[in-house]
Amino acid sequence: MSHATERPLLPGVGMTTTEAPFIEQAQAEGKLYIHQPYDLYSEENHEAWRRLYSRMAPQWTRFANEHFLAGISNLCLDPDRVPNLDDVNRFLNPLTGFRAKPVSGYVPAFLFFDCLRNRDFPTTITVRKLTSLDYLPEPDIFHDIAGHVPMHTDRAFADTLVRFGDCAHTAAEIVQGISDEDEQIRRLDSIIKAMARFFWFTIEFGLMKDRSGDLKAYGSGLLSSYGELDHALTSSTVQRYPVQLEWVVNQYFEIDHYQPLLFIVDSFDHLFSLVDELESWMRDGKLDNVSPGEPLMSEADLKSFLHAELS
Ligand SMILES: [Fe+2]
Repeated sequence: MSHATERPLLPGVGMTTTEAPFIEQAQAEGKLYIHQPYDLYSEENHEAWRRLYSRMAPQWTRFANEHFLAGISNLCLDPDRVPNLDDVNRFLNPLTGFRAKPVSGYVPAFLFFDCLRNRDFPTTITVRKLTSLDYLPEPDIFHDIAGHVPMHTDRAFADTLVRFGDCAHTAAEIVQGISDEDEQIRRLDSIIKAMARFFWFTIEFGLMKDRSGDLKAYGSGLLSSYGELDHALTSSTVQRYPVQLEWVVNQYFEIDHYQPLLFIVDSFDHLFSLVDELESWMRDGKLDNVSPGEPLMSEADLKSFLHAELS
């Protein structure tokens, strides 16, 4: 433990996961989209970022997809300090039009995908505790900025995220046109489940071969996890298969342990074409009866689609 870890937090100071007064206040006021109060980061927060970054950097060199490595270099992240989102956006926005947009917590599914459609990425601004660098169920700024945002510097990948946003609009249109309420919820639940599974097995945990045929990670859940990145690519217990849409949309997943099953795409153009296919399956009704199980949809997720204003 360094000296920094022993210093008590001042009241109202610190942007630590589940312990940030600024975030609690924003949530109490019902504010989802917020600003990043950069001065509130404590030395402990910066120390957590520094340790997370320094131990991931060599892992990225070994296991990260080349587009991610290019992204890390293009974003000019400071290995020693929590990133200021304005700085990140100055490098990111000219490349693909994407921006990291600070949020106070969970973004209901439709709003999340709708942000992607507008090239905004809802970004958690809290930092995990120094005592739980390895695993936390919630996203934090390291997962979002060091795991996701480097991928958003890649044109084909960024366009794929926008297509996810289009799909969410299509889903909302479809279900808002159903008059029977029970049927509406049943189909919506199945369609969002399919979308969430596809997102999980690609954007969060996807693998892709590099030019020499070696398997690399592009999924942000892997790229922000010190233990899992290595495990995902080297453990003999992990099943790794070429992606199949019909499998992915029916495959449940659990978030609280290393993933035992991962899928490989050929390229981001391939990934983009799969999102197109997902949308046409949705229109054809093929996603109305996917297999039950995880992930479970919250009331807020369902309502976000039912009450979505569509333009
Ligand atoms: Fe994520």
